[in-house]
Amino acid sequence: MSDPKAPEKKLLKALAGEKTDHPPIWLMRQAGRYLPEYRKVRADAGSFLDLCYSPRLAEEVTLQPIRRYGFDAAILFSDILVVPDALGQKVAFREGEGPVLEPVTDAAGIAALDSPSDVKQALAPVYETVARLRESLPSDVTLIGFAGAPWTVATYMVGGRGSPDQGAAKLLAYREPETFQALIDILVEATVEHLSAQVEAGAEVLQLFDTWAGSLPELSFERFALKPAKAIRAKLKARFPHIPVIAFPRGAGGMAERYFLETEVDGLSLDTGVSPAVARDRLQSIGCVQGNLDPLLLVAGGDEMRVQAAHILETLGHGPFIFNLGHGIVPQTPPEHVGELVRLVKDWRG
Ligand code: CP3
Repeated sequence: MSDPKAPEKKLLKALAGEKTDHPPIWLMRQAGRYLPEYRKVRADAGSFLDLCYSPRLAEEVTLQPIRRYGFDAAILFSDILVVPDALGQKVAFREGEGPVLEPVTDAAGIAALDSPSDVKQALAPVYETVARLRESLPSDVTLIGFAGAPWTVATYMVGGRGSPDQGAAKLLAYREPETFQALIDILVEATVEHLSAQVEAGAEVLQLFDTWAGSLPELSFERFALKPAKAIRAKLKARFPHIPVIAFPRGAGGMAERYFLETEVDGLSLDTGVSPAVARDRLQSIGCVQGNLDPLLLVAGGDEMRVQAAHILETLGHGPFIFNLGHGIVPQTPPEHVGELVRLVKDWRG
């Protein structure tokens, strides 16, 4: 199944540890509210989930930042919370409030979830979006599929919404570790099914978002962040040996190196708090790293953005590296700053 076009794709080269003239660039949340063309489609789509489940519209918003900026990769337009939706939990996205779910707080709630093997059927429109994108994307652009990592998805499932401290999920994990483990196990399986279906539809790289990994103390991090990621990576490797996986254990701090080594992911996406020099010395020998410009530098723009982007390029650009942000683009980002950043990265030569 090797793709004759694949060697020309910079993102795949970087993930394979090969050198490219400049590092590939894409940005987390590159499709979204900072783009007027996104806001227009979003307004016409109805709800946010309607947009995620409309292959034609989801394809369109995925392509918007590719057309505008020429990124080296497109990330499927979807959300990490389509998995709880597919497991039968009520999920809604409220204007100005973010996601709201009917919380799953105990063993009975977990037992009432649909089977992880039902996810593929429930999320068929998402895979249709992937298939359409694989047809419509330029041949040098890599298509990234994704899912939320079990811990991060569980924080929303248990808490019913985003929270600053992930308190509800943590308390369930600390008070009833076996109950919480049952939820994590379901999510490991559902995530493997969801990512496998994306690969079967045409995704070339997968990213696992563990946005809240950094809130876990070491022993819980091992159990609920590292171990599930390792299991997901191993199962995907058995099914699709050539598909690289990038993980984003945001805030992993001193656990990042162990996480990278033990999960055996191909790429590690770094949050803004990781020192590029430390990443070069400790992480780039393990595999490709991705990151980690502060999304607020992209809002501010100007010399400060240029100097700090250049610092990242100079430090990490000589090894396997993908330029990205340390977290997603924020809605108040001026679109022209993104254009300037893409030019800066594409003009850089190591
Ligand atoms: O990166 C991309 O361009 C691909 C699409 C994508 C979205 N969400 C679209 C989206 C991806 C990869 C995600 C991942 C996601 N979703 C994460 C992990 C990464 C991260 O950013 O930390 C998380 C935690 C979520 C859950 C989620 N979805 C929240 C908390 C919110 C509300 C906050 C917000 O920005 O409004 C969403 C909604 C969401 N997902 C939007 C987009 C473009 C905005 C909703 C809208 O357009 O109305």
